[in-house]
Amino acid sequence: MAPHSSLLLSLLFLSLSPILTYGYNDLVHQHFYMHLLAGKNEVLVAKSDIPVPGSFYNFGSVVVVDNLLTQGPNITSNPVGKAQGLFTVMNSLTVVWNANIVFTAGEYNGSSLAFLGPDDITQPIREVSIVGGTGYFRMAQGYMTIKTYSVNLINGDAEIEVDIYAYTAKL
Ligand SMILES: *[C@@H]1O[C@H](CO)[C@@H](O)[C@H](O)[C@H]1NC(C)=O
Repeated sequence: MAPHSSLLLSLLFLSLSPILTYGYNDLVHQHFYMHLLAGKNEVLVAKSDIPVPGSFYNFGSVVVVDNLLTQGPNITSNPVGKAQGLFTVMNSLTVVWNANIVFTAGEYNGSSLAFLGPDDITQPIREVSIVGGTGYFRMAQGYMTIKTYSVNLINGDAEIEVDIYAYTAKL
């Protein structure tokens, strides 16, 4: 064997070893509701003059959210946490999320999950990726489904039903 091929083999082994040693904890499923209250916990920070037919926001708008999450659909139901981050409005009825679920109560209080992806709000059920997490959710992988539960067409407020399915690595 040429001297450099054993070096290549060890490099290959080193790069694979984290994959080989990870196990996964049981799948976590969480179900809750997200409250989008326009102008209260949702603020437009960048906008353009290109309207999107049927949308509350123009193409290219960036909206920062600090949305309350509750167990039930009613805003007075038990708090679960916050959805913190932003969404960007595409040139269609799609927003792209860049945000985090931050738990402030219950078993996962203090832990968070990062989520990313396009959300075509014309679809009854949408899916975005869970790309990581902190605390209990370190090295999480999974997906999150999003369903519009109710919308106030006058002020743009909405309740969104969220289901999270995530695996975490056994460290
Ligand atoms: C969540 O954790 C924080 C920090 O430890 C604590 O102050 C708070 O009371 C907890 N909230 C609930 C609802 O358990």
